[in-house]
Amino acid sequence: MKIKIFENNVVLVNHSNENFEIHPLWLRERAKTENLVDKYNDQRLYDPSQLDPSIKIKKASMDNGHLNLEFTDGIKFEYKVNNLLYEIDRKEPTENIILWDSNLKKKPTAVFEKDIFEKKVMYDVLQDFYKYGFVIFKNIPVEENYIVNFANSIGTIRPTNFGESFSVKSVPEPNDLAYTSIALTPHTDNPYRKPIPCIQLLHCLENEVKGGFSTLVDGFSVSEYLRKNHKDLFKILTKTKVRFRFVDKTIILENWGELIELDDNNKIKQVRYSTRLDYVPALEKKELEIFYEARKLISDLYASSKFEIKFRLEKGDLLMMDNHRLLHGRTSYDVSEGKRYLKGCYIDHDSTEGKLRYLERKFGLKWKK
Ligand SMILES: [Fe+2]
Repeated sequence: MKIKIFENNVVLVNHSNENFEIHPLWLRERAKTENLVDKYNDQRLYDPSQLDPSIKIKKASMDNGHLNLEFTDGIKFEYKVNNLLYEIDRKEPTENIILWDSNLKKKPTAVFEKDIFEKKVMYDVLQDFYKYGFVIFKNIPVEENYIVNFANSIGTIRPTNFGESFSVKSVPEPNDLAYTSIALTPHTDNPYRKPIPCIQLLHCLENEVKGGFSTLVDGFSVSEYLRKNHKDLFKILTKTKVRFRFVDKTIILENWGELIELDDNNKIKQVRYSTRLDYVPALEKKELEIFYEARKLISDLYASSKFEIKFRLEKGDLLMMDNHRLLHGRTSYDVSEGKRYLKGCYIDHDSTEGKLRYLERKFGLKWKK
């Protein structure tokens, strides 16, 4: 992709041997003189919708990676060509994904180090997070609330009905099955919340038991498998909104959503799955027959050795996983063998995406894509 000038007053993007004219107003909106944007925060000081829509380029020239423009309203600005190309062709972190199943050779892993959140290695870790939907950090300080510092160093914690952070250990009279020692089948967390928490962090503070293995499944990978091999069943899972419900002593939370949610381009946007909390609407019997067949199949696939990976979280490990893409679970354990104690919390996607863009800018990495 290149930028070219035509007859000294038209800016073109050349892509696959075709030229597209860039609207002069689009360029004018991106002019950043001292009078047009605030030098401290890069925000516009005017309303661009008030600009003359028929504005034109009076003069255009290119010089050593810079595009110099003068507009008919008198504004002159020198653009970096790379910045314009980056914006025209930009990719979101979420576009760069690798689907995986139980053949995944190497789990994305990072060794924690001091000030990691300001280092280039964190950029690579976040790239891995978006590729695989999870990352395991090793050697995180084993301190009761360290996870809060960790989460707030990437973005901002999202509190839920379980608090700012929560303790995953077996307790008497639990308000959630997570707080027992029984096996948890693959699920996504809190599908009953509006909005649903995006990223879950789980920090292992104690693990003395033989069982209690963590399990992960790439929900996008299973969904694509269904799309390819079971079109009708895939379709009903993408069309049926299920009600998810959580009941506690002082609150009842509910939200609706498809087990496989697609975006406007039919790409997988989000998966939801929680066998403890789902209530399908009373659809016509025939339709429900197909839905139940589809739900049984996706349940079998989520639990199958074809898709599930299983590993032990060691003391000091921190698992960071995308709750909109991955399902997680654990095998049962015996409380008489010792302690198993994890601390968890949630953060939003825009925290990690924002951190990734920040590190990209800090280390001038965007042109290496
Ligand atoms: Fe969970």
